[in-house]
Amino acid sequence: MPKDPVPVLAAHDLNVYYGSFHAVSDVDLDFGRNEITALIGPSGCGKSTVLRCLNRMNDLVSSARVEGSVTYHDQDIYARGVDPIEVRRRIGMVFQLANPFPKSIYDNVAYGPRVTGMKVPDMDDHVEQCLRQAALWDEVKDKLKESGYSLSGGQQQRLCIARTIATQPDVILMDEPCSALDPIATAAIEDLMLELREEYTIIIVTHNMQEAARVADRTAFFTARPDETTGNRTGLLVEYGFTSQIFEHPNDPRTEGYISGQFG
Ligand SMILES: Nc1ncnc2c1ncn2[C@@H]1O[C@H](COP(=O)(O)OP(=O)(O)OP(=O)(O)O)[C@@H](O)[C@H]1O
Ligand SMILES: [Mg+2]
Repeated sequence: MPKDPVPVLAAHDLNVYYGSFHAVSDVDLDFGRNEITALIGPSGCGKSTVLRCLNRMNDLVSSARVEGSVTYHDQDIYARGVDPIEVRRRIGMVFQLANPFPKSIYDNVAYGPRVTGMKVPDMDDHVEQCLRQAALWDEVKDKLKESGYSLSGGQQQRLCIARTIATQPDVILMDEPCSALDPIATAAIEDLMLELREEYTIIIVTHNMQEAARVADRTAFFTARPDETTGNRTGLLVEYGFTSQIFEHPNDPRTEGYISGQFG
């Protein structure tokens, strides 16, 4: 792996406000192609906020204001004229709680290609390929017409991953995708991430440090610093490097404190 990431996606001087509250300050991060990057840090330090900036999901939060830039293949995704729907097609997202649509398993996967007008020569084949890539095909191939809700939590999460890859993104954002799953379902999703890394760039938020150590090539540690006058806690990036370096030889005492369980 290169010493410095070959960036597919990069945040520069990223600052995020919710109304007058400064939630995240001055984040600079390059996300490497075909790598898994983990964002870790204590609750409220802005991990989800940063993740949502990376595909313009914060546009949907009316009080949110984003400053700085996020570039995708060197193009600013916040530039005038950029279509946020297209941004979210290229940079897909999987959420903490699996959120299948109230539709059949088949239609969950076919939904994105249909609504975006993607040219798919054979939808049955495309749905099968996506479910295979999401390591779900064998479990659902005989019940594609059944509701997505009929699946277990871990299967629903893999269905959501199949739905995300159905529109052929090249980056997948995952916000605590395993936190509601048991260890077996978690292991299945982690194995899947390692497979998907061959084709996609993955950015994952996790509170599970073993998970970060198991799957992530690089890890970014965030914390929150209270403002001296207001006491508001603003998130900032403390340290970013290879996962092994962050966990075994952190450069910053705040990182060391967190990974050794002293706070957060
Ligand atoms: N929609 C919102 N409106 C107002 N404030 C928000 C909103 N979303 C997040 N915040 C605030 O921004 C800060 C960062 O929140 P964020 O959800 O990004 O943290 P996080 O690191 O993902 O935390 P957790 O680990 O608990 O998920 C917090 O102080 C939070 O209260
Ligand atoms: Mg969060």
